[in-house]
Amino acid sequence: MNVSANISTSLAAKTVLLGVTGCVAAYKSAEIVRGLQKAGVRVKVVMTEHAGEFIGATTFRALTREPVAMRLFDEPGDAIHHISLAKEADLFLIAPCTANVMAKIAWGIADDILTTTALATTAPLLIAPAMNVGMYENPATVENMKMLADRGVQFIEADEGYLACGDVGKGRLAEVDVIVARTLEALEVTCDLAGKRVMITAGPTVEAIDPVRCITNHSSGKMGYALAGAALRRGAQVTILSGPVSVSAAQGVTVVPVTSASDMLEAARACFGEADIAIFAAAVCDMRPVASATSKLKKETAGESLRTIELVENPDILATLAAEKQKGQVVVGFAAETDEVLANGKKKLASKKADLIVANHVGNGIGFGQDANKAWLIKANEVIDVPEMPKDDLADIILNHALELL
Ligand code: C5P
Repeated sequence: MNVSANISTSLAAKTVLLGVTGCVAAYKSAEIVRGLQKAGVRVKVVMTEHAGEFIGATTFRALTREPVAMRLFDEPGDAIHHISLAKEADLFLIAPCTANVMAKIAWGIADDILTTTALATTAPLLIAPAMNVGMYENPATVENMKMLADRGVQFIEADEGYLACGDVGKGRLAEVDVIVARTLEALEVTCDLAGKRVMITAGPTVEAIDPVRCITNHSSGKMGYALAGAALRRGAQVTILSGPVSVSAAQGVTVVPVTSASDMLEAARACFGEADIAIFAAAVCDMRPVASATSKLKKETAGESLRTIELVENPDILATLAAEKQKGQVVVGFAAETDEVLANGKKKLASKKADLIVANHVGNGIGFGQDANKAWLIKANEVIDVPEMPKDDLADIILNHALELL
């Protein structure tokens, strides 16, 4: 692949912070610097002291013509160097990344200049791991990678082949051309939502019956959080109004935790006015108990109130806020249906005054909690049939259409 063909004026103003860790493949980082520079990108290097055992800071200093950070306190003119590096980066690429550094980032350990910068930055993080196959496949590494991916960190998968230690298997640093191309791709998409505010409702709402019992809906929050991660990567300022979920948001997303539909409406109203794109992905309970008891209702004495819980309708957050929509705002809703997905989705587009409805099948193990989804995107005069794909990819397609409507 000829990376110089990718030179783009929009990339000229971008800074990639390249993190280099202690691994035999560290020498390839010099080629990564050159590949990115050929595309017009400014590269700064931050390396661990262990990386210094494999490649010298002088090499990177000569290639980048920038200071190279290796120790937390070695920049006399910049007492908090990790913070200035963190802020300067449009993208933080760590290539090669060892299992150790990945584990530290996953757990928030910041004990050197590289991991401290990783903890401080709000720039998208792109990791190209390289290590022995045993380390790559170790459940601890697999868990750490999953944890980071759930938070929106992107990975450039290691290749299979001969490893420096003589073993054969997965763990070789991906090819330099692939790393450069993926980095440029990540930088390009970073731009199209720059300056835009995106708000997303996500997860279930929980309506209290008493302090121990509740009414709720099935929802893992994965779709809403995938949308948040994708919008963030594309440069938006993102706020999630989230019911209780176990997924984590990408670093840099503002999360407002809420419980009930009324809380969610209040929190959503507070950011709707400022939002360019408002996405309503939450599984909001349609009803809530008329009253929530302050103490646990006892089966023996309050059996009747438990057997017959009187319900009242919750506000429709999407419909309420879409009715207040101003010019220049785009509203996206979801329709999770067991039957007549398209027909019901079309009805919702009109009844809720949304600009776009993402309709999908749910029930019988489909939809909820899964990493992939099959959907139809319904607009006023167009229906797009989107094949089943990971929620992260679907998120980008939804954002493409929302952006087009803006
Ligand atoms: O009416 P239904 O619940 O199927 O509509 C789904 C869409 O409406 C979703 O986008 C959901 O987040 C939103 N909704 C809402 N408030 C409600 C009910 C649904 O925002 N009370």
